[in-house]
Amino acid sequence: MMTPSDVKATLSFSDGSPSMDLPLYKGSVGPDVIDIRKLYGQTGKFTYDPGFLSTASCNSTITYIDGDKGELLYRGYPIEQLAQNCDFLEVCHLLIYGDLPNQEQRDKFVKNITYHTMVNEQMQFFLRGFRRDAHPMAVMTGLVGAMSAFYHDSTDVHNAQHREIAAHRLIAKMPTLVAMSYKYGVGQPFIYPKNSLSYTGNFMRMMFATPCEDYEPNEVLVRAMDRIFILHADHEQNASTSTVRLCGSSGTNPFAAIAAGVACLWGPAHGGANEAALQMLEDIQRNGGVEKIGEFIKQVKDKNSSVKLMGFGHRVYKNYDPRAKLMRETCHEVLNALGLHDDPLFKLAMALEKIALEDDYFVSRKLYPNVDFYSGIVQRAIGIPVSLFTAIFALARTVGWIAQLNEMIGDPEYKIGRPRQLYVGAAPRQVRPIGER
Ligand code: CMC
Repeated sequence: MMTPSDVKATLSFSDGSPSMDLPLYKGSVGPDVIDIRKLYGQTGKFTYDPGFLSTASCNSTITYIDGDKGELLYRGYPIEQLAQNCDFLEVCHLLIYGDLPNQEQRDKFVKNITYHTMVNEQMQFFLRGFRRDAHPMAVMTGLVGAMSAFYHDSTDVHNAQHREIAAHRLIAKMPTLVAMSYKYGVGQPFIYPKNSLSYTGNFMRMMFATPCEDYEPNEVLVRAMDRIFILHADHEQNASTSTVRLCGSSGTNPFAAIAAGVACLWGPAHGGANEAALQMLEDIQRNGGVEKIGEFIKQVKDKNSSVKLMGFGHRVYKNYDPRAKLMRETCHEVLNALGLHDDPLFKLAMALEKIALEDDYFVSRKLYPNVDFYSGIVQRAIGIPVSLFTAIFALARTVGWIAQLNEMIGDPEYKIGRPRQLYVGAAPRQVRPIGER
């Protein structure tokens, strides 16, 4: 709920134009916002904030981040407690319905999701139209968008029942689609979901079983993958979530809006960073390993190079990303369970982290490891190919996108998103005949 504050902001102009009082609103925690909705109407001026550095695009009850403290809450619950005490489907229930489920609610929700895991058989033929070497995110963007062509009965975003069925379908079918895009790429038959398994156990079986050999879920690895899902489930108004909101604000169907989120997530500054972080580690390893860290860090710090330390830095966290701490713990568990604690890439990551955390360049800019720094190592150890990392992030973030989309549609103040601009192009001019141009 937005609570009006007693404080008002006053905007004054040095050219003598009349000043304007702007109302302030308080959230439950975190910074207040200045309401500028009437600014243009009253002053004829817009605000200018490319990249939304100081702009709240909505009010939301779902996720809270305190970037300075390194705190992340889903519906008020600290991410550490959720990661340690809940499974992913409980977290999905929390994000969508506002609270953790009791036993009865949990059973009902799990059943609903479990019985929606199969995808329309025709989707296989759609998938077969892609090249086998297509990037999984290219395939996922297409498959998720195509869901609106396969599930017509849940495409009315203004119908609460349609929205709920679409939500269940998306959460349930994403693992099936990600596994199918993987199997297609490696030329193996698709593995159908198995309802007796957990959400995450089922995903891993669809990934790693073949018709010749079943997959026996390994508890530590299933728990690690489930934690990856929990940690990536939502992250308030990040680029892909804002994309889903903006896309959905036109009234388009939920599958189309989520497909837009998948497309946005693909970029290396966002969801593609886990893939980029692992590629960076592999590159350093190939070119000399730990010995070459100093040289690499020098390149990162060079203003004239575009090299970045992938998996470091965050728009909001100016402290250690709390998800990175949990992922680091999971990383140790997985490598121990698999007898890989001497894994050279993990050792390299630890050495790189240590050096970066002590280097003034990173310290002064408050650049800390983010979740992607470790999630790539965990996924690689589990046997997930690097090119699939971002698709797994998309699988996990789907619930957050849906919760945010539904929150926006249910908000009486919601309007189509339509940012304004500062035009700096040519002033009005006349078209001249082609011979005179
Ligand atoms: N390596 C080296 N320098 C960096 C890095 C980095 N990873 N990140 C930021 N900087 C520098 C940047 O060059 C700038 O320096 P200066 O002030 O001298 O110009 C300063 O730190 C501030 O950076 P910024 O680009 O203004 O920060 P931003 O908030 O616009 O960017 C970011 C945030 C995540 C895009 C950026 O830190 C980055 O590109 N990191 C690497 C990619 C990455 O790991 N992304 C995953 C984010 S977490 C997953 C998710 O939520 O999607």
